Amino acid sequence: MDIRLDGKIALITGASKGIGLAVARGFAESGASVMLTSRKPEALQTAAESIGDKAAWHAANAGDSTAAEMAVRATIERFGRVDILVNNAATNPYTGPTLGIDEGRAAKTMLVNQMGPVIWSRLVWDAWMEANGGVIVNITSAGALTVSPGLGTYDGTKAALVALTRQLAWELSPKVRVVAVAPGTVKTDMARAIWEGHEEELSTTTLVDRLGEPEDIADMVTFLSSDNASWVTGQTFVVDGGMLCLPPGAEHMATLSSAV
Ligand SMILES: NC(=O)c1ccc[n+]([C@@H]2O[C@H](COP(=O)([O-])OP(=O)(O)OC[C@H]3O[C@@H](n4cnc5c(N)ncnc54)[C@H](OP(=O)(O)O)[C@@H]3O)[C@@H](O)[C@H]2O)c1
Repeated sequence: MDIRLDGKIALITGASKGIGLAVARGFAESGASVMLTSRKPEALQTAAESIGDKAAWHAANAGDSTAAEMAVRATIERFGRVDILVNNAATNPYTGPTLGIDEGRAAKTMLVNQMGPVIWSRLVWDAWMEANGGVIVNITSAGALTVSPGLGTYDGTKAALVALTRQLAWELSPKVRVVAVAPGTVKTDMARAIWEGHEEELSTTTLVDRLGEPEDIADMVTFLSSDNASWVTGQTFVVDGGMLCLPPGAEHMATLSSAV
């Protein structure tokens, strides 16, 4: 199967590094042109230059509707259309017991992770997709489907994104497909506090004995954004090296089988 995005225009939030940058790179390699957005202009410019001619950038906080509107407008001005939106930007300003979070950090988490995808989806719908169709990919988290120590509010916003994906798939059909990808632990800056120094031990919480790389997620996003996935909408696809398939209490299948 040859997965191609030739002639497509994609807008990706949180695209200066990590999973967002890997998605942008994967899209460009598959023939798409990409508009990269995130907050810091210098990092964005470096990221866009590393991709080359097929990439442009526009700084925008994903939780700021005015900035988002300008980014969508810049995409249409630069490339003439927007066929694919990847709602990838997210924040996690608090780690700890769910009941311990203050309202300020809870509101920021909900604004960027939960309302952000609504804002950007509405903007691309109005600007292009209602008339011309398209694909929206939401990056949620495997944590949305299980329990993670210290990440209750963040995982709650990611669970909301799973529901939003189903809901928008229905509301925007048949013009627009809406899907979600739920990564397990991927070696990026966002998850650095979790994996750095613990890679070997954490690898045993997967079935493939390794943590994720940004490209593992990007490959799934590229497939879902392509016409090869034209009969796929509304669903969330877990890409976690099998983390959610561990039997309760077992660290690894090998551990389990040696115990029975
Ligand atoms: N890494 C994992 O293990 C993991 C697991 C499950 C889900 N995810 C999800 O995967 C997505 C990407 O995360 P990542 O691991 O690739 O993180 P990352 O490497 O830290 O990259 C985050 C990106 O988002 C941008 N960003 C952060 N806050 C933003 C905001 N308010 N508005 C716009 N851009 C913002 C950052 O650039 P600026 O700072 O310049 O804005 C950067 O480009 C997120 O949705 C995350 O929740 C990650």
